[in-house]
Amino acid sequence: MARTALVTGGSRGIGAAISRALKAEGYNVAATYAGNDEAAAKFTEETGIKTYKWNVADYDESKAGIERVEAEVGPVDIVVANAGITRDAPFHKMTPDQWRDVIDTNLTGVFNTVHPVWPGMRERKFGRVIVISSINGQKGQFAQVNYAATKAGDLGIVKSLAQEGARAGITANAICPGYIATEMVMAVPEKVRESIIGQIPAGRLGEPEEIARCVAFLASDDSQFINGSTISANGAQFFV
Ligand code: CAA
Repeated sequence: MARTALVTGGSRGIGAAISRALKAEGYNVAATYAGNDEAAAKFTEETGIKTYKWNVADYDESKAGIERVEAEVGPVDIVVANAGITRDAPFHKMTPDQWRDVIDTNLTGVFNTVHPVWPGMRERKFGRVIVISSINGQKGQFAQVNYAATKAGDLGIVKSLAQEGARAGITANAICPGYIATEMVMAVPEKVRESIIGQIPAGRLGEPEEIARCVAFLASDDSQFINGSTISANGAQFFV
């Protein structure tokens, strides 16, 4: 029987490419989204992938949503914690709300997404936890104290989960995309974006599909011994 994959933030940007790639690999896929009903409906129409609306920052909503996915699509074997937001501001201008929103969505959202599926993975002796971190969690970023903190936190999460899940056949890994051609990066002021591209030895932004292919590999049986790792996909912009 085909395995089931859940992708948060899976109807737009990198998440949409991940959902499509996993479907192409033969998984049953469910994608979540937070607010953009129109984009989600269009995505489902184009791909046949079911979309579910909930706020990953809310534990009870996440748990109830995952129960629906498990009843309608199947027990979640592969979870891709991808949903994330930015609220960029230089630290001296960053408000407590900007800090909290990003922590709640990007970091607590990972807990809220993985915690409800973890017991089932342990029982079935198989699981794949794949967290989409960021180059900016590795190197920090001007105007992203909040975002960088969450993306660095992701790396601590997967290294800890890897140790807890290894004997139960569960792996937990992170991918750190560099700057990828998505709405999030396009929202950066053009001059700043041009200067960022100038710092990427590949000379271009990455494509969402380049991240999706990393996820497909980590989701597969072939990756069983890769556990607690971080895959950087950044066009040689930064090395750990
Ligand atoms: N390094 C050093 N200085 C910088 C800088 C940088 N990277 N970016 C901006 N500055 C400087 C500016 O030159 C300016 O200096 P002056 O005052 O001397 O002119 C100052 O910092 C900015 O001051 P402002 O008051 O104009 O700043 P602002 O309140 O308007 O904020 C900003 C502007 C939010 C920082 C905006 O420039 C911005 O969005 N920058 C991009 C931040 C970024 O790279 N975010 C990544 C988004 S993509 C993503 O997150 C996906 C992923 O995982 C990779």
